[in-house]
Amino acid sequence: MARAGKGSLSSLLLLLAVVLAASTALASAEEANAPLVLPSARAASSSSTSCLDNPPDMTVTGAEAGQTAPDFHGVEAYLTGSRRAHRAIVLASDYYGFEAPKLRQIADQVAALGYYVVVPDLLHRDPFKDGFSFEEWIKTHSPADAAEKVQPLIAALTKEGKSVGFGGYCWGAKVAVELAKTDEIQAVVISHPSLVTVHDMKKIKCHIAVLGGEYDTRSPPQLVQQFQRVLEQNEAIDHMVKIFPRVPHGFACRYNSSDPFAVKTAEEAREDMASWFTKHLKHESESFQFQRAAGI
Ligand SMILES: *[C@@H]1O[C@H](CO)[C@@H](O)[C@H](O)[C@H]1NC(C)=O
Repeated sequence: MARAGKGSLSSLLLLLAVVLAASTALASAEEANAPLVLPSARAASSSSTSCLDNPPDMTVTGAEAGQTAPDFHGVEAYLTGSRRAHRAIVLASDYYGFEAPKLRQIADQVAALGYYVVVPDLLHRDPFKDGFSFEEWIKTHSPADAAEKVQPLIAALTKEGKSVGFGGYCWGAKVAVELAKTDEIQAVVISHPSLVTVHDMKKIKCHIAVLGGEYDTRSPPQLVQQFQRVLEQNEAIDHMVKIFPRVPHGFACRYNSSDPFAVKTAEEAREDMASWFTKHLKHESESFQFQRAAGI
């Protein structure tokens, strides 16, 4: 209890600090009549709760290439791409869940590169909504529990002879990191992570790419650089760390579709994720040999 209280107090203080910094920055920008938006002011518009500030537009339903399965190895999931693909990618959503149209679009686009893509509902049909208390909600939406819940699904894909990668956004990045501490997956990509710590980075056992945003206040560049320093010490795995300039938290899956720079950055983040999996998931011939060796 004491810890939770302290946590909320420090988030509050952080929020206050960010708001204060923003008003100062805005005031000085106005005084100087500066045409540029200062980084600190932009960062402030995506405060420590930024992930919760800008919910996805659930009404924008495009043509989805895949379909949902009510029970895919124990979890409801959106499935897209060829079931016969030798490489599978599991994508874990942010706080807003697996129905977000942009997340499904990313899944479809990655599937078009030749992957079987699974977007499981790890928030058990209870995504975060405006008006919820985050402190209460997170108690019943633990990323560690979600990582356990998704393991049978990953095991089933692996048993089919697929090489499995895991991509996580925001809340889902913490799920990805929990899985990366096990031997279950071959590679992970985390985009604008939430809740991920330097301590987590010390326990990573698979190839990892970290995609951060310059104006992300949840995982600011300083924290992402600390992740990088830890990963540099780990010679057993490959890592990549990239900080995308001039974008806030959520840039990879909850970007502003009317802003060409935001759209371009999200595309680049998606391509970087796909390249990481192309580099680190086993290719078809290797998988085939694996299947033969395993007698599948
Ligand atoms: C999205 O981008 C457009 C174009 O830059 C801008 O006019 C609009 O205010 C932005 N919307 C939000 C919610 O930031």
